[in-house]
Amino acid sequence: MNSFPHPTPPADRFGRVHTDLRVSLTDRCNLRCAYCMPAEGLDWLPRPELLTDDEVVRLVRVAVRRLGTTAVRLTGGEPLLRRGLPGLVARLHALDPAPELSLTTNGIGLARSADALREAGLSRVNVSLDTLRPERFAEITRRDRLADVLDGLRAARAAGLAPVKINAVPVRGVNDDEIADLAAFGAEHGYVTRFIESMPLDAQGAWDRDRMVTAEEILRRLGERFDLVPADRRDNAPAEEWRIAGTDAVVGVIASVTRPFCGGCDRVRLTADGQLRNCLFATEESDLRALLRGGADDAALEAAWRSSIRGKGPGHAIGGPEFRRPERPMSAIGG
Ligand code: 5AD
Ligand code: SF4
Repeated sequence: MNSFPHPTPPADRFGRVHTDLRVSLTDRCNLRCAYCMPAEGLDWLPRPELLTDDEVVRLVRVAVRRLGTTAVRLTGGEPLLRRGLPGLVARLHALDPAPELSLTTNGIGLARSADALREAGLSRVNVSLDTLRPERFAEITRRDRLADVLDGLRAARAAGLAPVKINAVPVRGVNDDEIADLAAFGAEHGYVTRFIESMPLDAQGAWDRDRMVTAEEILRRLGERFDLVPADRRDNAPAEEWRIAGTDAVVGVIASVTRPFCGGCDRVRLTADGQLRNCLFATEESDLRALLRGGADDAALEAAWRSSIRGKGPGHAIGGPEFRRPERPMSAIGG
């Protein structure tokens, strides 16, 4: 059954309709953010297990034509490490119907590729940036690359990959004193700065609730410097957004832990090795790569996808007694 051009997007048992796909293109990264992975890095996925460009395009084609996916975010690890990324973006942009394409990156190398990505059909980028101080950047990411990230941000803005958003993860005793500075930096340069509560998704299992900076505290710190006015927000968007009074500048807070938005979640995730995850915190995956490589037709891929969504749980319950960390760290799932 090919229901193109009006497929019904898959709904789960709780009525949540899934139109947003996140595709991790590699689990590798050229930074080593302490809240994400150990200094020595991780055992990266073996190359033969990674989906090829053809396989990624095939699955996204099934998503847009048969599953009603309207938005695709490319993530990693660090997606700019994927060779030939602009070519892949162009192929995804050429799908009919074309999904809205965005990218989450650490910004290293973005200065070189922003124009090509824009021309290939990318709409927007989110750039991770946790500090504006070079020495602190080198401590957090274990690489001295702040200047590359700032160049990447500027290039993205110049290329029209708008709105350029900054993702910052505040950690107590590390960069929590820079929350207002990061917001001011975004306001000055035309980036939307969003603060994300840290989640227990680091590879080392070192997450500590007491070092997580809560949304409440983030807002208190922003409120010390700015007058914030609630901004209109899109349904299902996890970020709560505010405008800095008297300016066009927008800041956001993603309170994944203290104000979970699982009830409105419209996302599904595809890992770089072709596993479909119905939740960031899912403990089970659907092996689409095995289906693809076993010769499955589009109808079988669609059926496996819908079945995965039907099995989606209500939410993550971080901090609750039943919470289980997923086996895959964030860097191998994609944000
Ligand atoms: N908790 C919250 N955010 C995280 N990120 C990476 N690891 C974590 C974590 N444990 C952020 C990155 C990036 C986005 C994809 O998720 O900083 O901006
Ligand atoms: Fe790389 Fe992102 Fe993890 Fe930092 S948070 S190490 S940039 S994957």
